[in-house]
Amino acid sequence: TGGMGYIGSHTSVALIEAGYQVVVLDNLDNSSEKVLTGIESITGQTPHFAHTDLRDVDAVLEVFNEYPITSVIHTAGLKSVEESVTNPSKYYENNIGSTITLVKAMQTAGVSTLVFSSSATVYSSSSKPPFDENAKTFPTNPYGMSKYIIEQIMADLALADSKWRLGILRYFNPVGAHPSGKIGESPSGVPNNLMPYLMQVAIGKLEKLPIYGDDYETPDGTCIRDYVHVVDLARGHLAALEFLENKNGVHFWNLGTGKGTSVLELVKEVEKVIEKPIPIEMKQRRKGDIPIVFADVAKASSQLSWQAKYSIEKMCADHWKWQKHYSDSRQ
Ligand code: NAD
Ligand code: UFG
Repeated sequence: TGGMGYIGSHTSVALIEAGYQVVVLDNLDNSSEKVLTGIESITGQTPHFAHTDLRDVDAVLEVFNEYPITSVIHTAGLKSVEESVTNPSKYYENNIGSTITLVKAMQTAGVSTLVFSSSATVYSSSSKPPFDENAKTFPTNPYGMSKYIIEQIMADLALADSKWRLGILRYFNPVGAHPSGKIGESPSGVPNNLMPYLMQVAIGKLEKLPIYGDDYETPDGTCIRDYVHVVDLARGHLAALEFLENKNGVHFWNLGTGKGTSVLELVKEVEKVIEKPIPIEMKQRRKGDIPIVFADVAKASSQLSWQAKYSIEKMCADHWKWQKHYSDSRQ
């Protein structure tokens, strides 16, 4: 689900390259059918595509009837923290409603393997980084709360029926694009997230980068995050699927690099790639930001044999390639 989106499209490529047959279910709310062309030009195959809203139970059941589906990777969802604060019911209705429809359809179809896109945003700001999977959870916005509630639903499903094989992936900060530059992130409107904003300043679409706070207790005063290459993230889904072949129950994994990068450090990395300075403007702190977030990735490493391979330089270079050559033509 959500396979036309940023993370879903890279995961589709990884699945096809590993020999899986992929059926993408997406309502194109935040993506375009052109993504299929990108996937096709990378893999030589076009995934089956169902232009379906996940909240439409009959339509979802039709997809399960049409294809011999064995496992589901559920990346569909709305993801703007800001929008979720102004329109919480939209987030609860779409993210939780669609997951419940999906689970019902899976039960009817007898499919019990599900990998879900959760987020580091479920962790409490009172936990000390690095966050491991047992760190205290306390989402502070409706988007994060929708992820947290879905995690709880999945835990309850596993308690109620031992058939379920459920993997919860808590992504840290996904950035980058496929090295071919043929698929990537296409945010609509002015981006909220740092990397897409930086890229639009780099290409001249936006004038300067606002930096939200340089007075945090970090070495350069700006916030620190754990950026992870989307292609590494995509491989993490395959590793989770393979793990679930032999294990039932519910399992949680952080997907990050375990390394922190500050806002100013990321700006410098992008400047190296584009070989010119990025205009910046210091602003007040952004409400809700946590100073330092990075993952403890030991569990994914030991249980899934998964580790992020790509450096911050590679993340910036691949994101830039997508931004420069393709991002406008694929929206
Ligand atoms: P995205 O918006 O690019 O992709 C999500 C896809 O889901 C889109 O193609 C959209 O059209 C589709 N979709 C949304 N609601 C749907 C519905 N009701 N029915 C069918 N399709 C629907 O987002 P992304 O960055 O690829 O994120 C994928 C998942 O990962 C999301 O659940 C998101 O919350 C989660 N996540 C993302 C990040 C991030 O920074 N990108 C971080 C942590 C977690
Ligand atoms: N930032 C700026 N200027 C900008 C945008 C961001 O200075 O124009 C700063 C933020 O203040 C923050 C850092 O860059 O300090 C990272 O911000 P992002 O918005 O890129 O990422 P967040 O860590 O706030 O959150 C993102 C997603 C969430 C997801 C989380 C996972 O927005 O949905 O990563 O950890 F859950």
